[in-house]
Amino acid sequence: MVDLAAVEREASVCTRCPLAAGRTNVVFGVGDTSADLMFVGEGPGRDEDLEGEPFVGRSGHLLDRVLQEELGIGRDRVYISNTVKCRPPGNRDPHPSEVAACRPYLERQIELIEPRVIVTLGNFATRLLLDSTRGIKQLRGRAYPYERAVSGKVSGPNVMVVPTFHPSFVLRSGGAGEAMAGLRADLVRAKRYLGVAAR
Ligand code: URA
Repeated sequence: MVDLAAVEREASVCTRCPLAAGRTNVVFGVGDTSADLMFVGEGPGRDEDLEGEPFVGRSGHLLDRVLQEELGIGRDRVYISNTVKCRPPGNRDPHPSEVAACRPYLERQIELIEPRVIVTLGNFATRLLLDSTRGIKQLRGRAYPYERAVSGKVSGPNVMVVPTFHPSFVLRSGGAGEAMAGLRADLVRAKRYLGVAAR
């Protein structure tokens, strides 16, 4: 049985895509490895690349704040990861080939952590986990069963995906207004599904 630490060791020396050449650290993931709630962002930025931890910059502070305000918990109670584990240069969008190369790491994280609810932050994580080409504005506002077959094992409808805006989009929108309200509403939705799933 492969454990998460073994997958992280494998990722730490990964050269499956060109992002490996520019990284300081592989940003694998952080938090409770048996959490019921998992967050998946886009990819590490400058701060994350330097520290080796996801969401430690401005977006991360916003995420920490809404997590505390809407669910009353800190980041140590959830697991946080990204679609790609190495920083795209200049914070550009990850290329489809980079997302594809990194995808097995995320799928193995989900398989091993077995969260009940996955909150996808922004377009990249949402499109990947819902296998959709639609945008976050169309997809958010409801929850979806996560039904990807991972290593022959199907993660059933007990795992729900709750898509929401990326915190950096919320910050770009002024940290308030509709985007912030949407992020908060989606976290409340995630909380509801956590409650349903725990019963
Ligand atoms: N944005 C992301 O998508 N992930 C991080 O870890 C930081 C910022």
